[in-house]
Amino acid sequence: MAEHTPRNVLLTGGAGFIGCNFVRYLLETDPGVKIVDLDLLTYAGSLANLEDLPDPSRHVFVQGDICDQALVEGLMRKHDIDTIVHFAADSHVDRSIEAPAPFIQTNVVGTFHLLEAARACWLGDGGDGNNRRFHHISTDEVYGQLGRSDPAFTETTPYAPNSPYSASKAGSDHLVRAYVHTFGLPATMNNCSNNYGPSQHEEKFLPTIIVSCLAGKPIPVYGDGSNIRDWLYVTDHCRGIDTILRHGKTGECYNVGGCTEWANLDLVKMVCSNMDEVRPRSTPHADLISFVTDLTGHDWRYAIDISKIKA
Ligand SMILES: NC(=O)c1ccc[n+]([C@@H]2O[C@H](COP(=O)([O-])OP(=O)(O)OC[C@H]3O[C@@H](n4cnc5c(N)ncnc54)[C@H](O)[C@@H]3O)[C@@H](O)[C@H]2O)c1
Repeated sequence: MAEHTPRNVLLTGGAGFIGCNFVRYLLETDPGVKIVDLDLLTYAGSLANLEDLPDPSRHVFVQGDICDQALVEGLMRKHDIDTIVHFAADSHVDRSIEAPAPFIQTNVVGTFHLLEAARACWLGDGGDGNNRRFHHISTDEVYGQLGRSDPAFTETTPYAPNSPYSASKAGSDHLVRAYVHTFGLPATMNNCSNNYGPSQHEEKFLPTIIVSCLAGKPIPVYGDGSNIRDWLYVTDHCRGIDTILRHGKTGECYNVGGCTEWANLDLVKMVCSNMDEVRPRSTPHADLISFVTDLTGHDWRYAIDISKIKA
């Protein structure tokens, strides 16, 4: 097992949902770490997500694009970056079905430029990449979809992405793998199931349910609501990423999941029943459920086998 101690971290997408939770996690758990946070502040990122950090003096925010390789290389040299944790992405499946182009640009081209910057700074001029680590965050959606009784995805499940989002993430995963094998870049990767928790954008499923309940508006449920997702609390994902960063083997990919499969409709009903208790209204919140036509890029079931990271 190749141990790594992150000291000067370039974190991409740290004003987004999982990124901002990871910034907090790292500052809280490792007093020796400094973070340079590179985020373009698209509609999905917000500086409000970075208010009240545990130790803000160890966090530098830079607004910029991961596709700007000169900027990335400049930041890496200026801050003597030894670790990259790469969250930045266009991340909403529905948007990728409406307009795929930004997903290819950020997720594929942006990841390529980050990898090139890491190669130039860590492996150029005789560098050997020792004590350096590039960690790439990906999704279980690259594996495609499962039937009801199919076994969960493992790290060796063949890729079969079905939406422009998952295809763009698959493309970025392949680039990371190629940079390990072709250039010896010290990189690791993880594929995670659906996250939930604080600072998630309102367009995602759980916030949409809660906001609709609060506003007394229809709660949109795709198809018949039978689609199944595996759910993981965001801080548990952060703990998994941190574990891989420090103890993972370079060149390896690790699945991270919650082993908590829920059909969408059951999840909506559970949230509605909780809302009935904390915010009672004249009729049950479940009356707000409104079925809408499903999108063709949506997968039916995801489930993730986490034996490797557990071991
Ligand atoms: N949310 C989930 O359930 C989930 C599950 C598995 C994997 N992931 C992956 O985790 C990562 C983070 O997901 P999230 O939900 O926090 O996403 P998010 O959409 O909440 O945040 C993405 C962040 O990236 C920034 N960004 C976008 N394009 C950029 C660019 N070109 N340059 C710099 N910054 C840019 C945005 O401003 C935003 O702050 C993504 O790679 C996603 O694919 C997410």
